[in-house]
Amino acid sequence: MAVDVLLGLQWGDEGKGKIVDFLAPQYPIIARFQGGPNAGHTLVVDGKKIVLHTVPSGILYSEIVNLIGNGVVIDPATLKKEIESLSAYDIDLQRQLRIAEKAHLILPSHRLLDAASEHAKGAGKIGSTLRGIGPTYMDKTGRNGIRVGDIMTSSFMATYKDLKAKHMRLLSLYPEFSIEEDEVKKAEEAFFEGIEFIRRLSIVNGEQFLHNALEKGMDVLAEGAQGTLLDIEYGSYPFVTSSNTISAAACTGLGISPQNIREVIGITKAYCTRVGSGPFPSELHGEEGESLREKGGEFGATTGRPRRCGWIDLPLLNYAIKINGVTQIAMTKVDVLEDMESVSYADSYSVNGAVIEGIPFDLEDERIVVNYNNVSGWSATKDGSIHPNLQAFIETVERKLSVPIRYLSNGPEREKLNILGG
Ligand code: IMP
Repeated sequence: MAVDVLLGLQWGDEGKGKIVDFLAPQYPIIARFQGGPNAGHTLVVDGKKIVLHTVPSGILYSEIVNLIGNGVVIDPATLKKEIESLSAYDIDLQRQLRIAEKAHLILPSHRLLDAASEHAKGAGKIGSTLRGIGPTYMDKTGRNGIRVGDIMTSSFMATYKDLKAKHMRLLSLYPEFSIEEDEVKKAEEAFFEGIEFIRRLSIVNGEQFLHNALEKGMDVLAEGAQGTLLDIEYGSYPFVTSSNTISAAACTGLGISPQNIREVIGITKAYCTRVGSGPFPSELHGEEGESLREKGGEFGATTGRPRRCGWIDLPLLNYAIKINGVTQIAMTKVDVLEDMESVSYADSYSVNGAVIEGIPFDLEDERIVVNYNNVSGWSATKDGSIHPNLQAFIETVERKLSVPIRYLSNGPEREKLNILGG
């Protein structure tokens, strides 16, 4: 039938995992369309926290088929470990998981290249998760990559050795980056164990699988990773990831057409965070930022790094909404802002006293001034209803963004979610 796309509107970590988990029962198929194990989608089920990196967030529902689409980059060792960590959940992998044969593989030497490149950048580093994402997408666009389907061919080992040798030649350009032979050997062993593991999974022609499902009248939820402001094209370049994270990437990353897309659900926190380097105009430094980080548990699900925190940024959200064609918003972590005297939001940007339209080329341009506005704070209500000041905040955001907030998440648990306007 149709594809609904769910994606992040900020710098990732918006709480996509929880919203996918909530919406999942409406969809027979959930498909990840980009990114790789740099992602960490957190679900809290029966009080237990589960972090998914490559596997789509519908995996805990036995009736849902989860597709890892061709736009995703897969680290076989990480995928094996992730799936093994789900062993308590009685997942029928053959039935519940499919892997697109055109998805590219992350080699151990991709991770080395990622680390060497970051090391060489020094203070200008991106703050990469070092999962080998950038070098793998570089090999994909450079037409050197190895795809999941290749592991079934007799030439796989030769192709692997050629690509590894090329990576080693590239690594020799970073003489100051030391490589531990033992570590490489261990990583290669884990890689090949992962390859054996993937060979036993259900590898499919991803686009055909989806075309057949759509023709049979099934709905698909396309699950994005990272966020719009980390998009390679439209994010805060060069402090971005190496894939397109926007709704258009659901088409390229799954092999579906724009006509297949129905709703685009954009996720934003009630405030804003970023992990890694790069511009963040509404960042809060000092005590205010620290307090949000502690209250929101803002530490990376993949790397454990502390996240930078700040106020929600409406000009950036407006930009993200236009690029993605967002039709409804899910706002998460509203509870983190409870019990504050007032809650601020970045309302506009100005240069030389004049409010600017759109987003400046250089978000770090020193002439940019962020203009803030605020609403009075709110607290939790006894009956779970929405506090009038929170309602005022919701209405302000909706008015400024011209898109309805459909879901309001006020805690990590599945049941802590309000559906608005319907
Ligand atoms: P990479 O994709 O691991 O190379 O990281 C590039 C930038 O994107 C870094 O600033 C990372 O912190 C950030 N990043 C990558 N994946 C995620 C994510 O899933 N959530 C939040 N930030 C991410």
